[in-house]
Amino acid sequence: MSDGPDELREAARRVREMAYAPYSNFKVGAALRTGAGRVVSGCNVENVAYPEGTCAEAGAIAAMVAGGETELTAIYVVADAPAPVPPCGGCRQKIAEFAGPDAVVTMATLAGDERAMSVAELLPGAFGKGHMEGA
Ligand code: THU
Repeated sequence: MSDGPDELREAARRVREMAYAPYSNFKVGAALRTGAGRVVSGCNVENVAYPEGTCAEAGAIAAMVAGGETELTAIYVVADAPAPVPPCGGCRQKIAEFAGPDAVVTMATLAGDERAMSVAELLPGAFGKGHMEGA
């Protein structure tokens, strides 16, 4: 098993081609490493009712949970963009649900430009379970 992003990069680039993005024309692929070491991927799936579309990160997370796992240690996101594509705000919260603060989020372009940040850097001051203590 590779420790680096090579396997995630390949999986994310591959699944990006499956994206259903007829409205934005912006295909996104995401691949994550689960706590057990598996690679799970997902793509964005748009809808004619625009807000019903789902992001690639959400697809990968749903596939991970459906596969029986609830922990991710790294996630790689790629799109054909001029700069590495950061997860949207909602996806940052979705990632934080299943990742520790040090989990690595690698944002990438199809051309190969990559930028890595931790979950804590991407979502400072995150709302978490602790905020509901005593509720
Ligand atoms: N999108 C993702 O799938 N992930 C991101 O990180 C950014 C945006 C999708 C949502 C929508 O289908 C398209 O990209 C344009 O916003």
